[in-house]
Amino acid sequence: MSLLLYIVAVIIIVALIVGLYEKSTNAICTSKKRLDGKTAIVTGGTTGMGLQIATDLADRGARVIIACPFKNEGVDALKYITDNTSNTDVVFKILDLSSIASIREFAKDIINNEKRLDILMNNAGVGAVSEFITDDGMSFIMQVNYFGQFLLTLLLLPLLNKTGTTTDPARIVNTSSVLHNLGFINMNKINDIRYWFPVQFYANSKLCLVLFAHELTKRLKRNNVVVNCVDPGMVGTGIFRCVGNILGGVVTVIGFVLFKTPWLGAQTALHVALDKKAGELSGQFFKNCKLTRAKRSAYNDKVAVQLWNTSASLVGLSSEEIEKCFQ
Ligand SMILES: NC(=O)c1ccc[n+]([C@@H]2O[C@H](COP(=O)([O-])OP(=O)(O)OC[C@H]3O[C@@H](n4cnc5c(N)ncnc54)[C@H](OP(=O)(O)O)[C@@H]3O)[C@@H](O)[C@H]2O)c1
Ligand SMILES: *[C@@H]1O[C@H](CO)[C@@H](O)[C@H](O)[C@H]1NC(C)=O
Ligand SMILES: *[C@@H]1O[C@H](CO)[C@@H](O)[C@H](O)[C@H]1NC(C)=O
Ligand SMILES: *[C@@H]1O[C@H](CO)[C@@H](O)[C@H](O)[C@H]1NC(C)=O
Ligand SMILES: *[C@@H]1O[C@H](CO)[C@@H](O)[C@H](O)[C@H]1NC(C)=O
Repeated sequence: MSLLLYIVAVIIIVALIVGLYEKSTNAICTSKKRLDGKTAIVTGGTTGMGLQIATDLADRGARVIIACPFKNEGVDALKYITDNTSNTDVVFKILDLSSIASIREFAKDIINNEKRLDILMNNAGVGAVSEFITDDGMSFIMQVNYFGQFLLTLLLLPLLNKTGTTTDPARIVNTSSVLHNLGFINMNKINDIRYWFPVQFYANSKLCLVLFAHELTKRLKRNNVVVNCVDPGMVGTGIFRCVGNILGGVVTVIGFVLFKTPWLGAQTALHVALDKKAGELSGQFFKNCKLTRAKRSAYNDKVAVQLWNTSASLVGLSSEEIEKCFQ
């Protein structure tokens, strides 16, 4: 019991320091850009930061498509967005990033039925949940946070490419994390749930996202689609529930009190999706609405290519199909 109290005390002190730092460095997206006639997808746009991002984009007049695996969350989120904006062009679609079949179905629906796609917010993610191997043979955390987003992004690339122009490029925003700093890439163990702790998988998945952005930027020939990563900082959302009932409850409560609100956490992603100057950059990493750098190994060309190949093979994308995504 006293050990538990001790742990809680340490968590509160650390959280207090982190919270103060986060709030003192935070920045707000100042873009006034309107998005009338444009379309945005926000994965995980049903709760936490994603819901705030989706609400902001809807408020700017965009057609907003939010997606998560649970219909009831989608219905609640739609109500929240339409209650808070005058935009009724908001739709919910089922998307489970832990299933290749679901990702393909979602992407097919979008490609067949949407005329354009201006913004893809790869916001969905799970925390350090207890691990298992998905039906597709990947670590659950890795598939939701990275492999699934890799596949989704590539499948939607033709529509993004069709929509973006060099003066107003289509934008892909990936939600990385400060924890990418702890990430490791070990191609042989990339889905080995007996080798890594869940927190390590989380960190690895966030590092993979940055490597992916780096590699994708190199492969995009025309500068009409840009892809950038953001670190939202520490944000009080439901994501911390993953660490267990007691500890998770404590961290969640602390997070809500001390960390950034989801609205504040959403600001950097919005900045990267809307700001004029940010749209001229690709393969970059932003925090607090400012350009910064991810850790050095996130820009390793060789690892990025290896990861790309490994990802393609794990999600079942042949080189012919990838070529089609780039046409
Ligand atoms: N909170 C932080 O301090 C922090 C820090 C750095 C980075 N991030 C990142 O920020 C992003 C948003 O996190 P958040 O804090 O807002 O978390 P959150 O409140 O837990 O929201 C996560 C969203 O992802 C969706 N999602 C989960 N599993 C999914 C799946 N299999 N397929 C599709 N969607 C799925 C969730 O939908 P359901 O609710 O329906 O499951 C939810 O809408 C994540 O990528 C996270 O890693 C968060
Ligand atoms: C948005 O609408 C919900 C009701 O669906 C309300 O509870 C919430 O406070 C509103 N938020 C803002 C920022 O207006
Ligand atoms: C975003 O994530 C996708 C899928 O993981 C990846 O293809 C792309 O390169 C990433 N972009 C950035 C800037 O990280
Ligand atoms: C990646 O795959 C491509 C095409 O399949 C191949 O030409 C290249 O040699 C591979 N690179 C690595 C590092 O595996
Ligand atoms: C985008 O479309 C153009 C033709 O409109 C094509 O030349 C280019 O290869 C496509 N793909 C990418 C990723 O730029």
